[in-house]
Amino acid sequence: MSTVLVTGGNGYIGSHTVIELDKSGYDVVIADNLANSKMEVQNRLEKICGKRFRFYNVDCCDIDAMRKVFNENKIDSVIHFAGLKAVGESVRIPLDYYQNNIDSMITVARLMAEYNVRNLVFSSSATVYGMSEDVPFTEESPLGVCTNPYGWTKWMLEQILRDYAKANPDVRVCLLRYFNPVGAHESGLIGEDPRGIPNNLFPYISKVAGGTLECLTVFGDDYPTRDGTCIRDYIHVCDLAQGHVKAIDYLCRTDESVSVFNLGTGDGTTVKEAIAAFEKACGHEIKHVFGPRRAGDIAVSFAKTDKAEKILGFKAKYDINDMCSSCWKWQTMNPKGLED
Ligand code: NAD
Ligand code: UD1
Repeated sequence: MSTVLVTGGNGYIGSHTVIELDKSGYDVVIADNLANSKMEVQNRLEKICGKRFRFYNVDCCDIDAMRKVFNENKIDSVIHFAGLKAVGESVRIPLDYYQNNIDSMITVARLMAEYNVRNLVFSSSATVYGMSEDVPFTEESPLGVCTNPYGWTKWMLEQILRDYAKANPDVRVCLLRYFNPVGAHESGLIGEDPRGIPNNLFPYISKVAGGTLECLTVFGDDYPTRDGTCIRDYIHVCDLAQGHVKAIDYLCRTDESVSVFNLGTGDGTTVKEAIAAFEKACGHEIKHVFGPRRAGDIAVSFAKTDKAEKILGFKAKYDINDMCSSCWKWQTMNPKGLED
């Protein structure tokens, strides 16, 4: 059985990916320092998968602690989710973001070289396309100027991994550029569980729908789009998780040293449309007001998905209604998120 080390596997996307890997017959080892997730996720995964996963509470920047993980397991592939991801926070504490995100990846890559682990999937983001208005984004679209340190860590790590792969011809690296992951597992047992007041649209809408927050502010309704609000390519987290399994399958059969794929649906949804879809899912109105634009937002972002479909055999199957209903189930089953 092929073993995948999932760093950050206790987090939002990582935990959903663990389920899909397990379903596809991969053996999973998780490394996470709980910087942005709670140990209860492991109990939930046990309920869903009927087994307890090997879990290491380690910081991926700590090479000695991580060496123990590589020593104790015969790892064939790594999916590196571990990282900090709050855009606003990255502007306030940039050094923490550069240090954590870059150091953790370099440390894991060093150990992969030391232990002859060939396959690496890296969590990148559509944020690397910058402020371009040339949509949809294809994998060949030029990389842009990022508007925040978080975005730059993804941009820099893509380059670092290209250089790493060039210097190590046996290595296979897959850069996955996610669009906007939302939604939750169908069981309602795991989902996005942000600390404090959410910054992103779906967690915020969920909390307004659930009554924990009063009112959503829509950031700008004067964009050049069909209803004046921004368009994004929301992708169900379970589809995204499936995309990672396809990427690992691909790395096991390809000769390409670095591959890049967009993971999105190829469809754009406006903020107003997202609110309407959520209202349908929860059965009541979501209170919202219109405010000014948020700095750094682009009007339209969506993926061209042909490459992932053709080469990985990946196509998202859930639509915006599925995303909203799964989010709502997760919210109603866990109104206060998970316990520490
Ligand atoms: P998350 O915060 O829920 O998960 C990340 C996990 O990594 C957390 O459990 C955290 O505790 C852990 N972690 C952070 N630093 C660590 C370290 N040094 N050592 C060990 N564990 C560490 O975030 P997510 O939404 O699941 O995102 C996963 C990855 O995907 C991140 O790299 C993120 O930047 C990237 N990404 C996320 C989105 C999104 O919208 N959620 C979009 C594009 C890219
Ligand atoms: C954000 C990050 C991006 C990251 C992505 C991952 C910023 C500037 N960008 O993208 O780097 O890769 O998450 O998912 O933070 N909105 C509101 N009201 C709110 C929250 C959001 O109207 O309270 C709007 C935003 O203006 C945007 C849309 O909803 O038009 C989606 O926002 P969000 O969920 O934060 O995602 P992105 O901005 O696309």
